[in-house]
Amino acid sequence: MKNLGILLSGRGSNFVAIADSIAAGRIPDARIAVVISNRADALGLETARHRGLTALAIPSKGKTREEHDREVVTALHEHKVDLVCLAGYMRLLSPWFVQQFPARILNIHPSLLPAFPGLEAQQQAFAYGVRVSGCTVHLVDEELDHGAIIVQKTVPVLDTDDEHTLADRILEQEHIAYAEAIKIVLEGKFEIVGRRMVKSQKSEVELKK
Ligand code: GRF
Repeated sequence: MKNLGILLSGRGSNFVAIADSIAAGRIPDARIAVVISNRADALGLETARHRGLTALAIPSKGKTREEHDREVVTALHEHKVDLVCLAGYMRLLSPWFVQQFPARILNIHPSLLPAFPGLEAQQQAFAYGVRVSGCTVHLVDEELDHGAIIVQKTVPVLDTDDEHTLADRILEQEHIAYAEAIKIVLEGKFEIVGRRMVKSQKSEVELKK
């Protein structure tokens, strides 16, 4: 049984989708060990408590990035977390944090990376006029929205779209993509070759430069 640790800052729909995917058997042999937010008022924390999960607020205010990250990492270790899933976590992780979970931190981003990293990716894509956008689940490295790509889903931009309808359809795909990516990473049958995820029969992730 693998322990997931979810980090979020807001409504937590990706967290709910992960929890539902576990309950439905789409992510075998996994459980959510802890949900952590840097914001005590995050809706996702409340949802986690309602679902009977351990939900912790670890506020970042008044702390340096590394001080805050150390508290979060301590909590993740206390709950024996194997895989960290960023789900709308609106903070950059320090390099130190990333090094504590090598190839064991996932993030979801609402664009087809490397297009439109950073904030408000859906609006950026809409304003740019792309005909296709989507979402990306990737391993977290020390750069923003940058690590090796595990799963991408495409979403066509319709003539009738506005940035909200586009964001809604991307979100539906996010919920599917995240569960698929977690399953792939937990199975571990891949290698990262350069930036590429390549399927293999190996049971452990091997990092090749
Ligand atoms: C999602 O669009 C995700 O891609 C981005 O932040 C948003 C979080 O939404 N990183 P939610 O809190 O999971 O509903």
